[in-house]
Amino acid sequence: MKFPDYRPRRLRKNAVIRRMMSETQLTVDDLVLPLFVTYGKGIKKPIESMPGHFQLSVDNLKAEIEEIVALGIPAVILFGIPEKKDASGLSAFASDGPVQEAIKVIKDAAPELYVITDVCMCEYTSHGHCGIIKDKDVDNDSTLELLAREAVSHAESGADMVAPSDMMDGRVQAIRIALDQEGFQGVPIMSYAAKYASAYYGPFREAAESTPEFGDRLSYQMDPANTDEALREVAQDISEGADIIMVKPALPYLDIIRRIKDEFNYPLAAYNVSGEYSMIKAAEEKGWIDGEKVMMETLISIKRAGAKMIITYFAKDAARVLRA
Ligand code: PBG
Ligand code: ZN
Repeated sequence: MKFPDYRPRRLRKNAVIRRMMSETQLTVDDLVLPLFVTYGKGIKKPIESMPGHFQLSVDNLKAEIEEIVALGIPAVILFGIPEKKDASGLSAFASDGPVQEAIKVIKDAAPELYVITDVCMCEYTSHGHCGIIKDKDVDNDSTLELLAREAVSHAESGADMVAPSDMMDGRVQAIRIALDQEGFQGVPIMSYAAKYASAYYGPFREAAESTPEFGDRLSYQMDPANTDEALREVAQDISEGADIIMVKPALPYLDIIRRIKDEFNYPLAAYNVSGEYSMIKAAEEKGWIDGEKVMMETLISIKRAGAKMIITYFAKDAARVLRA
């Protein structure tokens, strides 16, 4: 591969040969759009730190869903903002909760749109933690039952897939058993398997109103310094019946995505989280970067690292670029 015999620039000469040589393709089929659904009526409340995103009440969902379908986006993932919160997050499995109602509205308006639900307690607990508190920490085993009930409730409302994001040990197994018992053997589980305790979730917590009232999530989410531990988390979740495993956040953890892809070759998703979105939007607003180009470069990097599915707040923006 010595110059002048090998001249890599020959295969970069024009757009056609560059396209022919491209090793990674991003398509709209890779994208999942997160949506925040809230209680109440007539609500379309902008999320300040996430331009272009809103808390939507269920009656305002239809127009949004039609736009998503028209753009060819195959799937959404739902987060709920309930009217009432309590210490145990009991509203997580109310059959008339915002997520449960949203699923029905979406399935009515666009049966072909694939509906994934985030399964966690932090949107429903008064203290904002992802489970039941005992001795100032989240109690693992008593939280499992609540998560299982939440997942079953989403499946009963018509969810196509459930995605637990709580990081309790054993939750994939608990949810799989509960779903099977209730007749939902066909509903897959996408597990947030390697979910790090990340400051990149900041804007999301404004969007979902789920900032912890005290402390942090370090006793259940992963230490950003760890990579071997991510492999153990993934191996365990696969053994418990996870159908898809996820790495979250995406961009600061591309090495984790690649390692998991190489090690397991199992359906893999990555969550391009709120802070990753907000930083690009903010720099774009300041005129410091070309937001569209940085977005596309970011998304292709996640695909190149080995993720098939990308959950991203850019899904609509990227779909517009990919269709142009
Ligand atoms: C709930 C949950 C969070 C995110 C997805 N599900 C927040 C958290 O764990 O604090 C973050 C998503 C984002 O930042 O876009 N457990
Ligand atoms: Zn949570």
